[in-house]
Amino acid sequence: MINGIRFFLSVKPLTPTMLLLLLLLTTAGDGDAQRFAGVKKNDVCSCQVNSSVWAFPAKKFEGVMHLVEKCGESLELLEAQVMLSNEMIPKFQATFDNLTARLEPYLYLNDLGRYTPLHLQHVAQELTKLENDIGSIHQLKPSDQTLQLTKEIGKVRKEVDRMHLSNNFNMKAVKEKLRTLKNGVESCRTIPEPFISKQGVCSQRILSNISTPVSQKISPFGKSYVSGSWGRQTKKAKQNHDDDEEDIEDFYWVQPLISSHRLGNVIRRYKTYDDFMATKNHEDVSVAPSYSHADAIQGSGTVVYGNAVFFNCYMSTDLCRYDLKTKATRRLKIPDLGANNQFPYCYYTCKDWTDVDFAADETGLWVIYTTLANHGNLVLSRLDDQAFNVTQTWTTRLFKKSVTNAFMVCGVLYATRYVDRFREEVFYAFDTATGQDDNTLALPLEKIDSGVASLTYNPIDRQLYMYNEGYLLSYKALF
Ligand SMILES: *[C@@H]1O[C@H](CO)[C@@H](O)[C@H](O)[C@H]1NC(C)=O
Ligand SMILES: *[C@@H]1O[C@H](CO)[C@@H](O)[C@H](O)[C@H]1NC(C)=O
Ligand SMILES: *[C@@H]1O[C@H](CO)[C@@H](O)[C@H](O)[C@H]1NC(C)=O
Ligand SMILES: *[C@@H]1O[C@H](CO)[C@@H](O)[C@H](O)[C@H]1NC(C)=O
Repeated sequence: MINGIRFFLSVKPLTPTMLLLLLLLTTAGDGDAQRFAGVKKNDVCSCQVNSSVWAFPAKKFEGVMHLVEKCGESLELLEAQVMLSNEMIPKFQATFDNLTARLEPYLYLNDLGRYTPLHLQHVAQELTKLENDIGSIHQLKPSDQTLQLTKEIGKVRKEVDRMHLSNNFNMKAVKEKLRTLKNGVESCRTIPEPFISKQGVCSQRILSNISTPVSQKISPFGKSYVSGSWGRQTKKAKQNHDDDEEDIEDFYWVQPLISSHRLGNVIRRYKTYDDFMATKNHEDVSVAPSYSHADAIQGSGTVVYGNAVFFNCYMSTDLCRYDLKTKATRRLKIPDLGANNQFPYCYYTCKDWTDVDFAADETGLWVIYTTLANHGNLVLSRLDDQAFNVTQTWTTRLFKKSVTNAFMVCGVLYATRYVDRFREEVFYAFDTATGQDDNTLALPLEKIDSGVASLTYNPIDRQLYMYNEGYLLSYKALF
């Protein structure tokens, strides 16, 4: 090979053909180089190449040429990329530096519990509003509770004033305190007077026991309707004159779920207990044109409170209020509400479609549910049944999927668990007045079959109503 090269290099003017040959001889690595004798003629070297010595490897040559071309292309591409990167990296770096610089002022947000003076200003404003609210409520209906709240708000005011002077404060604790105070003020505003002054039915407000069933009946729709809800209309007509809540009828109602025990649109009403027990003289009310209408009922958390039916709307995270007088449906969105069988009551086996559970007691209307934000633990909201909005919210540490059902009595949330097929037990209580809970209760509750689709309390007759598989049971709450 080296010989071959030397031979050609010794030639002066290199013709293109020769160059080609050179290339061939040096690249076609398998062929042996041949030695040829050159003849000098007019300063030009010519030599005869015996072409039969080696066959010209045209195929290989083409292949190599192709590879070389392609390699060139790839190289160009690579070069372009390198250039682009070199150009772009500083730009990226600059953007990154800019972002870092712009985010730096917000780093304090990582530092939980410590906030800026702006937040402090918001808190001060909220506090001023609370002071005004409690002031006007106290003027209208002074009570021990309004006095107590005024004192506590005064304490927080002092604390916030002190924060203004120092640079170091725990805003989280203050916000938590404000929320509690807000709940307190809202209670003064919205909870009926007899309850607050503790002279009413809730003077002994903690459940001490539950009677054996006082009524037992198969659902008027049949035993195969294993899920639904039932009860008695749960709000007294206001004794006072001049109120917009005229003549609320008292009646018993049953709401059966169809379509895999999930949906419904019919409420069956009985004007009297006798009619209900005898299964006669009923009236069916449709809250929606069909069970798959957007305004239909989903799940067994329904209650009838005053002149309205409250339930979880079909395939939705909204709450629905159907007005029995005006026949109008209103919806209320609860942020983050766990619905659509995501968080049913479970304990022993899950009772499907029990995500949203309405409840009523002496103090008003409630809804029991859960949110992802509260990690699936029970959340309790008080509702204004007329305005249909949330007035207060409490979060508990009780995992919703670890209880079979829940209900409210005198501002206390109670939860039940499965004991066996024929027995339930009230084991947990959460007091909204104090925020304290207790999971050591053991109030027995007899039943006919395993599943509890709904369990609600009625503050008018102080009875509990259970939809137990296809059976309708009621019990006396004992204090
Ligand atoms: C060319 O090479 C072949 C085989 O090597 C040989 O038989 C032939 O005589 C050579 N021709 C010339 C002109 O040298
Ligand atoms: C970041 O970029 C924006 C515009 O893109 C510019 O207004 C701002 O001054 C830059 N910030 C810093 C800290 O460089
Ligand atoms: C509670 O009520 C049940 C009937 O449901 C009764 O058997 C039991 O003795 C009562 N317990 C107490 C402590 O009164
Ligand atoms: C609820 O609605 C009523 C009437 O619209 C309103 O006065 C009240 O402030 C609302 N409450 C809340 C907590 O939004």
